[in-house]
Order: sequence, then structure tokens, then C-alpha cells
Amino acid sequence: VKITVYRNAHDLASALAEDVADRLSAKPTLVIGLPTGRTPLGFYREIVRLAREGRADFSRATTFNLDEFLGARPEHATSYRQYMERHFFGQINIDPGRVHVLDGGASDARVECERYEAAISEAGGIDVQILGIGSNGHIGFNEPAASLNARTHVARLRPETRRANAAMFGGDASRVPARALSMGMATILGARSIVLMAIGSGKARQVEGAIHGPLTTRLPASFLQIHTDVRVMLDRAAAARLRPGRRGTCAP
Ligand code: F6R
Repeated sequence: VKITVYRNAHDLASALAEDVADRLSAKPTLVIGLPTGRTPLGFYREIVRLAREGRADFSRATTFNLDEFLGARPEHATSYRQYMERHFFGQINIDPGRVHVLDGGASDARVECERYEAAISEAGGIDVQILGIGSNGHIGFNEPAASLNARTHVARLRPETRRANAAMFGGDASRVPARALSMGMATILGARSIVLMAIGSGKARQVEGAIHGPLTTRLPASFLQIHTDVRVMLDRAAAARLRPGRRGTCAP
């Protein structure tokens, strides 16, 4: 695991945007796994800026989002699909046919999950999977539990995850869907490289556990330790509990 600690969230976001732009230059058909939530907003802002400046060309790229609320149709204002349209897809030159987001409104969720796995395989697998981390250590919507799902599945959201998403639902956690569709742990770990981002002190304990702690289904992000190409990008607050000598490099 290569860890980089940035002075602030903006520096982290622009470093990740530069990194994705470089990967796109090296491989224009890049397959990218994408998160939603608060953490990646700065990254989307920065990568959109690079795209406008002609430094990131998405015309041949393919994307797969990590997750979607169950019951959220793509046109729903509170769907992750709409979040992505607003912050990213609607602002870059990506081919809509190469954009993949789980359909939360699919009539058969199990079939939708299987379709998604097949689409990822058909695209040749994910080159780089970008992740945030939940304040309970989840990645995607792989919540802490006695066991984890390997593949894309219907996930039951924990109360703290529904609370964390309440802002999208007028601040009312009870309106946040109780279930979601999510890539599984093996889907995520199948990516050729992984970038985990974390910002703020609210993530420090889970980042510490993910990096220093034992591999445990109680902290799903700890499974990143078994992947051979993981980059962890943190601001100072999220890195605060990392032990000396294991803090990795510090960005200039
Ligand atoms: C969202 C996702 C989640 C978030 C995590 C952190 O697509 O996969 O795992 O990355 O809940 O969310 P924020 O960034 O809002 O703290």
C-alpha cells in the first residue's frame, strides 16, 4: 500500500485528477471504477477542469460506478446516477454508451447485479477503481458484517450509512433507502489498481484499521491489504492515526 498525505483536500483532489489524466493519456480506453459521496466531489471538479483544458480525454474511456440505491431509477433526483450526471458525466466528453451505473429501479435486482458483473468482464475488467471509505469502514456498500459478498449484490445499509447519506434526502435518514446495489469485494479487488481516498478526522480510525489492522469483514476496507496495487490518498486529518514509519510519503 502506497500512502500519500496531502496538506488539504484540494491538493489531494488535484493530485488524483492529474493521476487519472496521466492514466488516460497512457491508455485512452481506460476502464475506471467510480465512487459517489462527499469525498470525490473535489476530484470530479478538478478532472472536469482538466478535461475542459484538453488535458483529459474521456471519449474512449469506460466507467463503472460502485453502487446505487435500490429503488432509485436513473432519472430520480436522489439517485447516484443523477449525482454522476451533475458532477461528472454531464460535463465531460464521455460516450453515454460507455457509462455504467447499476439501475436501482431494475425489476429484478439479482438479474441487474449479474448483468453488471458481465458488463465489467466484457469491458476487460476495471483498470483503476477509485474508492472512498465509509465512517464505518465500508467500501462501495460492503458494510461491516460477519461475512461479505464477493460479487455485485443487494446490500442492506447500516443505520450510520443511511445517516451519512441523509443530506441527499432533505436531512431525513429515514428517507434514505434501506437497501442498495453494490459491487462486491471480489469485484472491487478484481480491479488492476485501486485508489482509496479519505478526507477528514471522521475517517481517521477506519483508515488506521484498514492499513494497520487485521483483515476483517468487520472493517471491509482492510481487505485492500491483499491487493498488490493500492494507493491511499489522505489529507492530514484522515492520516492522523497512522503510526510513524507507516505514514508513507508526504506530498511536497
Ligand atoms: C459511494 C460509496 C461509499 C462512499 C463512502 C464515503 O459510491 O461507494 O463507499 O465512498 O460512504 O462517503 P463520503 O465520501 O460521502 O464520506
